[in-house]
Amino acid sequence: MSGLHVAVIMDGNGRWAQARGLPRSAGHLGGVEALRRTVEAAPAHGITTLSVYAFSADNWKRPRAEVDGLLALFRSYMVGERRALCSADVRLSVIGRRDRLGGGLVGDIEATEDATATGGRLHLRLAIDYSARDAIAQAAVSSGIDGPITRERVAARVGSGCGRPAAGSEVDLLIRTGGEQRLSDFLLWECAYAELWFTTVMWPDFDEADLARAIEEFRMRDRRFGGVATT
Ligand code: FPP
Repeated sequence: MSGLHVAVIMDGNGRWAQARGLPRSAGHLGGVEALRRTVEAAPAHGITTLSVYAFSADNWKRPRAEVDGLLALFRSYMVGERRALCSADVRLSVIGRRDRLGGGLVGDIEATEDATATGGRLHLRLAIDYSARDAIAQAAVSSGIDGPITRERVAARVGSGCGRPAAGSEVDLLIRTGGEQRLSDFLLWECAYAELWFTTVMWPDFDEADLARAIEEFRMRDRRFGGVATT
């Protein structure tokens, strides 16, 4: 069986913090811990690619202090997690625009991508300043595709979400925590045939048992990709 591509919309950090009388930043810190747990657990559940939504192109609308806090958190993750990702054989890539991120963060992202480039156990894709609609539009206008436009060729363009070529691999399972049931402009092209799994668990509380439950339910789904059942 080939490895799974699981995408996660990590929602609910703010509400998790609010319920405890804590600032939203505490929820985001709890979110980093949940991400660490999920990355560690993923390979044992057959996941080879994990794409997580850390910051959408629309999240710039949040209060400046929260945005700055999140950007600082991304920097400390890039630096602080680099060795652990290398020793866990995890390759990290960031998808999304980079031109609106600070030079320091972009440098840290590039250093972590370089340091982890040979990681073969899990491909962790962090979406930062990401919009699927922008990625699709960007692919359409700057395609430079030679020859007929095929789904595969467009997919290769859309995958990076920022104009750089990358495998836009199909998502098998999309998980959203926090109780909302929508895609919020995440991997719209890649989720064409994804199974969707929603939970009311807030992201900072998400643990391996939740991941196992999502995967177990996914394994019971009948994926026909528009065809008919074969058994
Ligand atoms: C959604 O919760 C979460 C985010 C917008 C930020 C996601 C960030 C993390 C999980 C932490 C850091 C990740 C990395 C890569 C270091 P929300 O704030 O919208 O929660 P709410 O809906 O309850 O307000």
